[in-house]
Amino acid sequence: MKLLFKNIKGLVGAFDAPPGVRSGAEMDQLPVIEHAWLAVEDGIIADFGSMEDWPGISDWRGLEIEDADGKYILPGWVDSHTHLVYAASREQEFEDRIKGLTYQEIAARGGGILNSARKLADASEEELFESALKRADALIRFGTTAFEIKSGYGLTLETELKMLRVVRRLKEVLPVPVRATFLGMHAVPESYKTNPDAYVKHVIEDMLPAVADEGLADYVDAFLEDGYFSAAQTLELLRAATAYGMKGKVHVNQFTATGGVRTCVEAGALSVDHLEELIDDDIAALKGSSTMPVALPSCSFFLGIPYTPARRIIDAGLPLALASDNNPGSTPSGNMNLVVALACIKMKMTPAEAITAATINAAHALEIGSHAGSIHPGAPANMILTEKMPSLAYLPYAFGENHIERVYINGKVYEGA
Ligand code: NIG
Ligand code: FE
Repeated sequence: MKLLFKNIKGLVGAFDAPPGVRSGAEMDQLPVIEHAWLAVEDGIIADFGSMEDWPGISDWRGLEIEDADGKYILPGWVDSHTHLVYAASREQEFEDRIKGLTYQEIAARGGGILNSARKLADASEEELFESALKRADALIRFGTTAFEIKSGYGLTLETELKMLRVVRRLKEVLPVPVRATFLGMHAVPESYKTNPDAYVKHVIEDMLPAVADEGLADYVDAFLEDGYFSAAQTLELLRAATAYGMKGKVHVNQFTATGGVRTCVEAGALSVDHLEELIDDDIAALKGSSTMPVALPSCSFFLGIPYTPARRIIDAGLPLALASDNNPGSTPSGNMNLVVALACIKMKMTPAEAITAATINAAHALEIGSHAGSIHPGAPANMILTEKMPSLAYLPYAFGENHIERVYINGKVYEGA
């Protein structure tokens, strides 16, 4: 089965070979081939070029031609940070915040992550799977063609495994790459309140080996934050996880910056996510490292907290990735189009930088850059076909609307999981 797109107004993020991490000024240099063609064969990107060099077609059999006049083709979004598996929404907390309570005050009253953990304890694996599948399906329609999904609303051995088994089933049924992250250290459960170190020990000595034993997670994560887990506790987890070949993707600097980024970088973390607060030493630590900083602007928007200082990060020559943080507490949206728009509007990223951050760099934040995040020969044809647009910048400019005409997964129009 061959599919040939012609007259594409702009073919975005197309490379001859999978691109590496894009850092600093490179992030703005997103390749866009104007007036392009793209060939897909058996679900895989075969070739592309400018319409000036329209390919000579010798064999028309089984060839479908799609006229993309006025439309753009982009690699699908890669969402490298989600909490897609959860039992219930938390709009009561949303109303409480509108009335003046902060995220931390709500958590201190037993709301927040512990609220989600109580609800998840009562939900069956089947219910969790069905609801997460529905969310993933809706997000693929919004252009997300790779996901990371975390546990972290279990906080007991059994419930963390339950969440990760749901993620395993999602990996099996979803037609896009899915990476799983074990987030046992998301919050200290009520039963360990007076002895958080004992909980860390339980996570590291009991949960982590069980997770690894079943091969349920690719990465580990912890909420490194005042009132949650310290840098020392996070370091213990990261070191223990190394023995199982699992790298860290750590929630850090959401509300306070106290040097946790350096700890994560030195422990070889794959990514440090949030970074709404950032000190100069965080930048210094990230320089020369292979740890990807990840910003989550929809979380800042929803909670009314600062946005990750993207300009400081990029202008220091560092890379940056963007992700949704989709979760019931701080970001009940997984729409990556909105993430890209917020990055431009609120973080002063150029459209090219934001698209790079949500595709190429995001794929590297999940170690899937060889087959996701860009258009290159040999990659699965997981792509966004936009509606007719006057320019690529129109995508984040006309925010809050859906400019996607179709999403292609493995070269086929996506019609549901
Ligand atoms: O990334 N900050 C920690 N974890 C999530 C929020 C979890 C929740 O409130 O349920 C986040 O924002
Ligand atoms: Fe998160």
